[in-house]
Amino acid sequence: MSAQLIDGKTLAEELRAAFKTRVAALTARNHRPGLAVILVGEDPASQVYVRNKVNACEAAGIFSQKRVYPADVAQAVILAKLAELNADPKIHGILVQLPLPRHFDEKAVLEAIAPEKDVDGFHAENVGALAQGNARFIPCTPYGVMKMFEANGVDLAGKEAVVIGRSNIVGKPMALLLINAGATVTVCHSKTRDLAAHTRRADILVAAVGKPRFVTAGMVKPGAVVIDVGINRLPPEEGGKLCGDVDFEAVKEVASLITPVPGGVGPMTIAMLLANTIEAAEREAGQ
Ligand code: GUN
Repeated sequence: MSAQLIDGKTLAEELRAAFKTRVAALTARNHRPGLAVILVGEDPASQVYVRNKVNACEAAGIFSQKRVYPADVAQAVILAKLAELNADPKIHGILVQLPLPRHFDEKAVLEAIAPEKDVDGFHAENVGALAQGNARFIPCTPYGVMKMFEANGVDLAGKEAVVIGRSNIVGKPMALLLINAGATVTVCHSKTRDLAAHTRRADILVAAVGKPRFVTAGMVKPGAVVIDVGINRLPPEEGGKLCGDVDFEAVKEVASLITPVPGGVGPMTIAMLLANTIEAAEREAGQ
C-alpha cells in the first residue's frame, strides 16, 4: 500500500493566500508588517533560503529588508544593527540566518534580538515560554509541521512520537510541541544506541538529521506518519537533486502519511515565518 502525501506546498499556498488579507488589514491601519533578515557570509544554501523568505514576504505584502554582510564582519557590527532594528517601528520581525561563521557567539547574537521581534523563536525567553506551553513565537519549521498534522487530521494525543535530531532549530522545539500536544516523545540523535528499535515504535516519526535517505523502510512502523525535515543536495553523480532524510520511495510503501521533499516541510517553514511576522505586527497593533 502506498502512503497518502502530506502536501506542504498546497497547504503553504492556502495559508499564504489567507495571510494577504491580514497584511492588508494591518497596512490599512498603518501597521504594515515588516521583516528584517540578516545574512552573514556566502553559504549558497543560506543565500537561497534568505532569498525565498524575502520573496515570500513581498508576495504577501509584507515589508522586508535584507542586509548581507561579509563572513569576516565583526560581531559588534551585527549587534549594532540588531539594536537599530529593535528600535525601528517599521520592523516587527528580525531573523538572523543560521549558521553564523565560527567567530560568532551565536547565543549572544540571538539574545540581542528583542524577544517580541524574535520571529524565529530562538531567544532564550521565547524558548522558555515554549517549554512552559505558553509560546510567544513557535520556531518556523516545527510550527509548520504542527500545521501539517492539524490540516491532515493527525491526532497526537497518546501517540508514540519519535524525533530524530536534537537541534535548537528543529529537534528540541519539535519535541516540546509534541509533548504539549499530548504525545509520548522520544528524541533520538547521533549518540542513540539502536536507533531503529526506537523509530520502529513510532506512530509519528519526524526526521531532522541532515543525511540523505537516512530513514529506511525497515526503520518505520507500518501505518506511521512520517515527516521529513531534511533538505539535502545529492552529489552531481546522483543527479544533484534535492533529497530528504527519508528514503521516500521505500518508506511510502510502509507509512500511512508522508511528506515529500521538495514540496513538504520546506514551503511550510516559509509560510510560518510569515505567520509569525504577521502575529508580531498584530500584537504591536494591539489586535
Ligand atoms: N537555518 C536553518 N533553518 C533556519 C531557521 O529556521 N531560521 C534561521 N534563522 N536560520 C536557519
